[in-house]
Amino acid sequence: MDSFTITRPDDWHLHVRDEAAMQSVVPYTAKQFARAIIMPNLRPPVTTAAQALAYRERIEKAVPPGVDFTPLMTLYLTDVTTPDEIKRAKDAGVVALKLYPAGATTNSDAGVTDLRKTYKTLEAMQREGLLFLVHGEVTDPEIDIFDREAVFIDRVMRPLRHDMPELKVVFEHITTAEAAQYVTEADAHTAATLTPQHLLYNRNAIFMGGLRPHYYCLPVLKSETHRRALLKAATSGSPKFFLGTDSAPHAGQMKENSVCAAGCFTALSAIELYAEAFESAGALDKLEAFASFHGPDFYGLPRNTTQITLRKQAWQLPERLPFGAAEIKPLRGGEELAWRIV
Ligand code: DOR
Ligand code: ZN
Repeated sequence: MDSFTITRPDDWHLHVRDEAAMQSVVPYTAKQFARAIIMPNLRPPVTTAAQALAYRERIEKAVPPGVDFTPLMTLYLTDVTTPDEIKRAKDAGVVALKLYPAGATTNSDAGVTDLRKTYKTLEAMQREGLLFLVHGEVTDPEIDIFDREAVFIDRVMRPLRHDMPELKVVFEHITTAEAAQYVTEADAHTAATLTPQHLLYNRNAIFMGGLRPHYYCLPVLKSETHRRALLKAATSGSPKFFLGTDSAPHAGQMKENSVCAAGCFTALSAIELYAEAFESAGALDKLEAFASFHGPDFYGLPRNTTQITLRKQAWQLPERLPFGAAEIKPLRGGEELAWRIV
């Protein structure tokens, strides 16, 4: 296949930051995707409906004229988010709340310390039909960083599903065979997003010939066994798995630093990277449902009606791009990609 056309995809997990940095990255996503779930881990985090509305307006202003792109807003769940705030969020068009276990990742210090503290609020979400998007890693320092997702399933996910069976839960950016299996076997209210980096790379990528900060994200890349299990899940045709890039831009100096920020910037070439992963599994025919159908179906939103075309045409990703006053390096920056959006 040298070119193929699919329904315009959506990105069900995206970081766009704020201010000048946001102006730099939003156009890349708006070019590829019709909608994106906007992560709320700003500083300070987006914790109220009013803040989400204001943030949505700022994002909309960063969309180039004539481009059709809808940001779908989320709130950052804290120990003290109230059921009343859930009502206001619903009225404001917010679609989901995000769980950051306190200390798990970038800007997560205001996150949840114990999920049981939020049960009244989760019940309100269940009633209002707001989704719960979960960063699925325990933060217990005793647990090895490579095991934090698998341990989260037993310590948090299973009790949560038992106590809130009607809540729609997305296990975000899964990275392990255990999570893929858990989601496959769970009921229809549980789904998962998969990033391009976790489908394409294993943890060797972080250490190949020297430490490579641009391959460092959270949850961290796992071993090849896990990557294969994720690719199998993504290409299985199961409606529980869908596209969420977790494109997480950080200025070059924050990545190439003694303490490297977590996150891969993939917004510029996201669908091309997914095409490469699906092609490697001989499953390009499964890409459209993964990228364009399963997400809106799970969220209860209409599928997009326009199309994009991908062509097999090698091109070189720019090494660096402007990022507000700074610069950013895309994942694979300076290297060749096989597919290109027309
Ligand atoms: O790698 C990551 N970067 N993982 C996350 O969970 C957060 C994200 C960010 O905001 O930079
Ligand atoms: Zn994320």
